[in-house]
Amino acid sequence: MRFLTVLGARPQFIKAAPLTSVLRRHHEEVLVHTGQHYDYGMSEVFFAELGIPAPDHHLGVGSGSHGAQTGAMLERLEGVMLEAQPDVVLVYGDTNSTLAGALTAAKLQIPVAHVEAGLRSFNRTMAEEVNRVITDHLSTWLFAPSAHAERQLRAEGIETGVHVVGDIMYDALRLHAERARQISKYPETVGLRPGDYYLCTVHRAENTDAPERLEAILCGLSRLDKHVVLPMHPRTRKRLAERGLAPGVNVRVCEPVGYLDMLQLVSASAAVLTDSGGLQKEAYYLEVPCVTLREETEWVETVQVGWNTLAGTDPDAMVAAIARFRVDRPPHPPLYGSGDTAGRIARVFESGSSTDALQ
Ligand code: UD1
Ligand code: UDP
Repeated sequence: MRFLTVLGARPQFIKAAPLTSVLRRHHEEVLVHTGQHYDYGMSEVFFAELGIPAPDHHLGVGSGSHGAQTGAMLERLEGVMLEAQPDVVLVYGDTNSTLAGALTAAKLQIPVAHVEAGLRSFNRTMAEEVNRVITDHLSTWLFAPSAHAERQLRAEGIETGVHVVGDIMYDALRLHAERARQISKYPETVGLRPGDYYLCTVHRAENTDAPERLEAILCGLSRLDKHVVLPMHPRTRKRLAERGLAPGVNVRVCEPVGYLDMLQLVSASAAVLTDSGGLQKEAYYLEVPCVTLREETEWVETVQVGWNTLAGTDPDAMVAAIARFRVDRPPHPPLYGSGDTAGRIARVFESGSSTDALQ
């Protein structure tokens, strides 16, 4: 089969790495980078570290408003898809690059495969929620990470093409955690010892673009009992500069780090505070408690088992959640498969099926 994979943002490079290498054993893949993320530390570093082949097409779309960015992707993807004539367009997650890939393919009547299908926050003010709902409803193959995600798709009337395959990010973590342990120099690079710090990331539009929420997060971090390492997303850096805000003295800000350094920073931290989707799961896989700086999460299982707490941006809730984790270490069941998601997805395609559930 010939796949055309659309990538554009940091988490998508990490998700694509395991599946790209498995698919290329027996299939052809055309890799397209929309250019949504373009700084070295937001894009190229992941291709280098994870051995992702160089993109066949780089669309150079860059940053912009949702309409301008997504529109530019649609226009440029159309020509690439017409030329490549793929059997399947493969998209990951919930970014504007995901939506543009799925929509362009659907308009050209090329079947779409969505990795990370069925996740919902039920918050339509999030651009990502809109992207996921539309992508799922345009997809022929829906690769869901959990039975919960599958049920959600059924509740929306999507009965066929759904395959519960686990979380592709768990594949990536299992493939690279040992190498990260061996070669990463973090947290020592930022002058801290394992266990002596909390790790934080913040980048969601709803947190960075609302000054009162960003200030509340900074306030909460400054009240924690340890140092905080904060690899800062460029969006957050920009907003802090615009508003003249600065994190407290216990916060060590650094540039975004590569995947291996990030795995090491998570596994050596006392806890993670984040609004990232990917980090909530990585914290869980590495048995590190997580405080999610949002009112809801798509990864509900991590909350149900007690390893993740939704604190929103309330400083008191952040402090209380960290205090609770100091005494409470709940059981740690597997939630999203066993790290063989790439193989499961490949087998679905190779069975010629869009409808059989692989449990
Ligand atoms: C995007 C995704 C979000 C995902 C996140 C992963 C959408 C709507 N949002 O959010 O779902 O969780 O990626 O990190 O698709 N910027 C740079 N350099 C870069 C990239 C971005 O400076 O390489 C700055 C620009 O000022 C840009 C801003 O960050 O305007 C936001 O970038 P954008 O890709 O629009 O959204 P993210 O917040 O990164
Ligand atoms: N990540 C990274 N370096 C960083 C911040 C995040 O390698 O400085 C990784 C993180 O480990 C996870 C992914 O990027 O694998 C998550 O991406 P992000 O938080 O940008 O997006 P989300 O998952 O929220 O869509």
